[in-house]
Amino acid sequence: MKEFHIDISIQFFALEELPEADRSLIEQAKMMTSTSYSPYSHFKVGAALLLEDGQVFTGSNQENAVFPVGLCAERTAFFAASANAPKVAPATIAIAACNAEGFLAKPVTPCGSCRQALLEAETRFGRPIRVLLYGTEGVYVVPSMRALLPLTFDGSELV
Ligand code: THU
Repeated sequence: MKEFHIDISIQFFALEELPEADRSLIEQAKMMTSTSYSPYSHFKVGAALLLEDGQVFTGSNQENAVFPVGLCAERTAFFAASANAPKVAPATIAIAACNAEGFLAKPVTPCGSCRQALLEAETRFGRPIRVLLYGTEGVYVVPSMRALLPLTFDGSELV
């Protein structure tokens, strides 16, 4: 038997410690929670995706009475970016979420489907997407989507 370890490094910052560009992106993600359509979960998620050329695309979770039809905030933002600026690489995504008590204290983390969708863009453009996960206690800064989804299925063996 052999064993191997996969290490990921996550930085935990106080909001004030982050550079202005990151704080601005987080602010946009927080603002986007107000556009969430979430009458079923009452869980409002906002995302702001900064592209390499400075454009920002935003999104919020959009639910439906047929539950699987709904979409997370991260993919709403990412698909808008990909549809409108298909040749520009994503650079950083900020995510924030609130429930009935307000913004979450612990940083919100993206679901597996959103990780998979964003990782494909990271692979396609050959550059990491930084991830800023907001919580009122502080912000996780993750260096790449791959760090959030090790041993991913990347389709490279599809023939
Ligand atoms: N949701 C997101 O938008 N992003 C996440 O990272 C986690 C979950 C949404 C999906 C659904 O509308 C609600 O939050 C509850 O799962």
